[in-house]
Amino acid sequence: MALMQRLLSRPMRLALGSNYSKCKAYWQSLAKITSTTQPLFEKQEVSITFVKASGERILAKGKEGDSILDIVVNNEVDLDGYGACEGTLTCSTCHLIFPKKVYDTLPNKPTEEELDMLDLAYELTNTSRLGCQVIMTKELDGIEVQVPTTINDART
Ligand code: FES
Repeated sequence: MALMQRLLSRPMRLALGSNYSKCKAYWQSLAKITSTTQPLFEKQEVSITFVKASGERILAKGKEGDSILDIVVNNEVDLDGYGACEGTLTCSTCHLIFPKKVYDTLPNKPTEEELDMLDLAYELTNTSRLGCQVIMTKELDGIEVQVPTTINDART
């Protein structure tokens, strides 16, 4: 806004003459568009429920674009040993089991590297994924995932 004030200073007004009003309106609309105080795109909040083998259910929230590992870390979800390699695809401790219906709609399919790491996970199913590789979308808001009883840190 201070920049706009300077641009619309008295010498500028004099130089623009009769076009002053049009220029002022232009600069004001430009200031609204380029303002950093209002984000142009607000990421939608998403939630996910982790269901532990004990039956305990843990609800956590994040934003679309977060990986499930991000949500676990940011919410300090109590999942023992989860995400030991911090998403570098070397541990398989972020193994989760998805309901078939959800698994089929996940936006990204597992890569060869993820499948190799999943082979080292305990309790592997046809709908297993590594949470560090699953990116939340608004369509996935509200999903439930099963946390395996045991984890395998493939690095040890
Ligand atoms: S956090 Fe280690 S493989 Fe996902």
